Formats: sequence, structure tokens, C-alpha cells
Amino acid sequence: MIPRLTLQKLVSPSFSLSEAEQLRQALTQTPKTIPPQYFYDDRGSQLFEQICLQPEYYLTNTEMQLLETVAPLLPQQTRACELVELGSGSSRKTNIILDAYQREGLPLRYTPIDISSSILELSAKHLLQNYPNLEVHGIVATYEQALAHLPPATLPCRLLYFLGSSLGNFNRHQCDVFFTQVADGLQGGDYFLLGIDLHKDPRILEAAYNDAQGVTAQFNLNILTHLNRRFGANFVPDRFRHVALYNQIEWQIEMYLESTIPQDVYIQGLDLRLHLEAGERILSEISRKFNLDQISQELTTKGFKPIATWQDQRGWFGLTLVQKC
Ligand SMILES: C[S@@+](CC[C@H](N)C(=O)[O-])C[C@H]1O[C@@H](n2cnc3c(N)ncnc32)[C@H](O)[C@@H]1O
Repeated sequence: MIPRLTLQKLVSPSFSLSEAEQLRQALTQTPKTIPPQYFYDDRGSQLFEQICLQPEYYLTNTEMQLLETVAPLLPQQTRACELVELGSGSSRKTNIILDAYQREGLPLRYTPIDISSSILELSAKHLLQNYPNLEVHGIVATYEQALAHLPPATLPCRLLYFLGSSLGNFNRHQCDVFFTQVADGLQGGDYFLLGIDLHKDPRILEAAYNDAQGVTAQFNLNILTHLNRRFGANFVPDRFRHVALYNQIEWQIEMYLESTIPQDVYIQGLDLRLHLEAGERILSEISRKFNLDQISQELTTKGFKPIATWQDQRGWFGLTLVQKC
């Protein structure tokens, strides 16, 4: 009997030389930076789930409501296809998509991809309980690794999706590289569905990343605890405070860890000593805000054909569906 859950792990709990080099470069540039993938250890993944429940964090609910409208159109467009999700996390949005394919009587095959193995395995098991005909092949990997190592498709095509506006964590150059990796990872006829947060009043944006319960602050500070464990660093999270601001020139939220005192930090795994002044900020995340037409246009330059775009009634969040030519 074929197992309904298979797992492929391309990342290890320790770190590779290229990860160490990437972190060293990030921490020694100005401003000092931490790659946002380090938010997601077990606790970081749990904290992100709590962020999604905060009333100020409109992104998750708005995108899920939009997906309720859009999901029934997907199986009509793609017919039998393998669902592949980048940065799947709790896979909560996948339920909406799976329901739509199930209603059409199409085969259910799902490939979640996430750097955080705990949340990927847990959510895969939940999905298998809820969908008796579902097969899951999970890939614990970075987006880049997974896109370069997608196993051969077992259904006529793939629908790759990247939701939650995680695209916003890439700067312009990284976004361009990512779109090339997506295009290279797909075959002609495959689909790509992308969820993006759109431009809006900066007060709404800043509130979303400064929730009253302080969950985003905990999420931000947890990145230091993760670096301590993974790279043998000695950051003291209490000596930092969470700052999230909207940069109106770059059209992005910028999330920082601000040093509250002058201090030195040692990162054993990199043999790197850092000095931070009081008030100095480490950039931990950018979250760019987008124009839907512009992003769809960028995708056409990577060999995709636009199929449809959707946005919610307030014009806060957008989805674009394109097909690889
Ligand atoms: C902001 S959460 C979004 C989760 C879900 N897609 C949603 O829309 O609610 C980002 C997810 O991507 C994963 N992730 C972050 N950086 C990653 C990377 N470089 N490669 C693979 N997964 C990554 C995290 O572990 C997390 O589950």
C-alpha cells in the first residue's frame, strides 16, 4: 500500500557553511540584518499562528475571505493537478483550496514546502485526517532548495501557490531571483497563484505589525533565541525592543530589533563578535506592499501568461493567477 504521507528533508537542524556565510554577511552590513527565515523555529511558527489571530493583522482573514471566492474557480481552470504550497506553515488556507478540488471530484495531492519541519508535519497530519483521499508529500526546505528539487509531477499539471504576502519579505532583487526560480521549477502549462498585500493607509499597516497584545514583538525577539540555539550566539532578548515602521519611500514595513543599551554579542558558530550602540537597530524583516497589475506584469517577463487577478472589496489584498507558457 502506498503511504499517504511522505517527507523529504533538505535542511538540517544545525547549519550549513552557506547559511553561516549568509548570516555573517547580513550581520556585518549596515544596517545589521538577520534573514527573516530565522523567525521560524518551533516557537516562531507558533507565534506566527497567534499573529494571524490578532485583530490588527488583517492579512490572514482578508486573504482567506478572498480565497473562499476564488478557490472554486481554480479546479475549473486547472483540472487535475498537484497542489504545491511554498511556505505552507499551518496550511490553513489549503483547506479552502482542497475543498474546491474535492467538490469537483478531482484527485487530491498536496506538496507543502516549509523550512519549519514541526509545523509542516503537524499540519500534514491534520489534513490527512480531514481528507481521506488526500496524499501529502512534504518537503522541509528553503523555497530555493525545494524549487530546484521538486520531484516529477504525478498529475497532469501543478498549481504552485505562495500566499500570505510572504513575497513582501524579498527586496526587489531577491523578488526577481525568486520569480526566476519559480519559473525554472515549473513546466509549461503549470500554474502559479500568488497572494500579495496591497498599498493602503500607513496607519493600518503600522497597527498590523504592532499588535496591542505584543505578539509580533515576541515573534521578532524570538529570532534572537533561535540564533542563540542554532549558531551558539549569546543575544539577551531583554536587551532589545521591537520596532515596526512604515517606510513611505520604499513602500514597506520595516521591522527592527533595537538595542536598548551599548552591548557586545558573540556568535560562536561564526566566530563573530558584534558591537551594538544603544538605539542601534538590526533589520529583521521587510514587508513590501504591492500593486497587483505591476506584479502580474513582472511575472509575464518571466514567461508566465496572466489568467486572472482578484482583490477584496476594500482593495487591501490581491491574488494573481498566471500560467507558465
Ligand atoms: C508568513 S508565514 C505564511 C504561512 C502561510 N503561507 C500563510 O499564508 O499564512 C511564512 C511561512 O514560510 C516559511 N518560510 C519562511 N522563510 C522560508 C524560506 N526561506 N523557505 C521555506 N519556508 C520559509 C515559514 O516557516 C512560515 O511557515
